[in-house]
Amino acid sequence: MKKDNKRKRRARLIDIGFLSVIGILSVIAVLLVMDTFSSSTSASPNKITHKKPDVPKAEVVVRSTDSNFPGIKIVTETTDDTTKPFTIQYPQSEFEEFNREITDYIEKVKTDYQAVETGSANATHNQLSIFFDTLHHSSGNYSLVLHTTTSTSNKDSITEIRTFHIDPITGIELTMADVVDRNAEKLKRVAKVVRDHIYQDPALQETLIADSVWQPTEPTWMNYRNFALTDDTLILYYGTGVITKRQAGPIQVEVPLEKVNSLLSKKFQVQTAVAGPEKKVALTFDDGPDPHFTKKVLETLQKYNVKATFFMLGNRVEEYPNIAKMVAEAGHEIGNHSWNHPPLTGLTDEELHDEVRATEDIILQATGQRATVFRPPYGAVNQQVRESSKLPVVLWNVDTLDWQHLDPEKLLENIEADVKSDSIVLMHDIHKSTAEGLDAVLEFLQSQGYSFVTVSEMENY
Ligand code: NI
Repeated sequence: MKKDNKRKRRARLIDIGFLSVIGILSVIAVLLVMDTFSSSTSASPNKITHKKPDVPKAEVVVRSTDSNFPGIKIVTETTDDTTKPFTIQYPQSEFEEFNREITDYIEKVKTDYQAVETGSANATHNQLSIFFDTLHHSSGNYSLVLHTTTSTSNKDSITEIRTFHIDPITGIELTMADVVDRNAEKLKRVAKVVRDHIYQDPALQETLIADSVWQPTEPTWMNYRNFALTDDTLILYYGTGVITKRQAGPIQVEVPLEKVNSLLSKKFQVQTAVAGPEKKVALTFDDGPDPHFTKKVLETLQKYNVKATFFMLGNRVEEYPNIAKMVAEAGHEIGNHSWNHPPLTGLTDEELHDEVRATEDIILQATGQRATVFRPPYGAVNQQVRESSKLPVVLWNVDTLDWQHLDPEKLLENIEADVKSDSIVLMHDIHKSTAEGLDAVLEFLQSQGYSFVTVSEMENY
């Protein structure tokens, strides 16, 4: 909220700046035209001159002021060039190498902008503006977030975000590799958190290009070089048109630090005052809804005030839409488990697409809610299956084998034997034995101090 206001205020200031610059420049332009016109006519009235009037080279005014952040100066560049006007602000420090990285970037942006052919088109369409935000972390690091917007008469306006990092006392520059201890495995897990955020952000859903989320969030250092770090948030920036459709602009994914705390280098970790780790378990029920046993399962969950996740089959939702609706209305999470329960890895692209999409549609239609997670039948998954849905794939790590033994007591025994914190327990709400055995399971887990979460609330799945 606060940041938004600041940005708006800055945008307004820039607007006023532009207006007055353009005003002054138009006056100068008019004077210049009048001057060349009168001199050429008076000097040689009989000759038509082909000599171009001498246009003075555009002058660039550079100013440097202190920012609110010690050690960081704001450099402002403006020009009286009316065909390719720009207003640029960028940070500088006391460290030459860092300063050069920034100015190299600025020069490149300017050169690209100047190189765009705009012909005789109306120059008022041309604009380059660069401004930056400074975000501070208590370790001393500043994240300097440069927003570059280029518009020219023959191209859409494009905004790009680039980040730079420096500790203004030591001159040490921070990279994402430093943030996660140069550990590629940890970057992978950060990438997973980022993807979940993208998939679960309702504001993004409209503009998301489903097929292109995977690649730009692939855990490479290059994909994660544009970031900002504060004491409670890790923000990742992705370019225009990379994840969302172009008009949506660049996106930023704000990850609360506690969600990635264990992945961070010690000095960036949030110190939490929690007495001990909370034991969590996620219960999942597959292959429903079922007209008899899903209801019974819901009653038992209600008795213990437990929320669970139901991975539904499209054809069952079609047959029992009211049961699906009951599950949603009771506040449980709903997942997509395909339409007909085939091993999805054996399907053609088209068949796969139908299995996933038709199920998404029927779930929305029956419950008024979207599925938020995806579990391929038999856990059969490959890259193609993963990419068939925008939703995160969730498997399990405790298998009760309830479909095999059909024994309420075995259900409890298997869970007792295998459950630990962060377990995702696989059951099926289509068996009488499971519906009957659930009460004892919940009693046991509660007595062991477990709290119950949906799979989306589980940090690592
Ligand atoms: Ni299944």
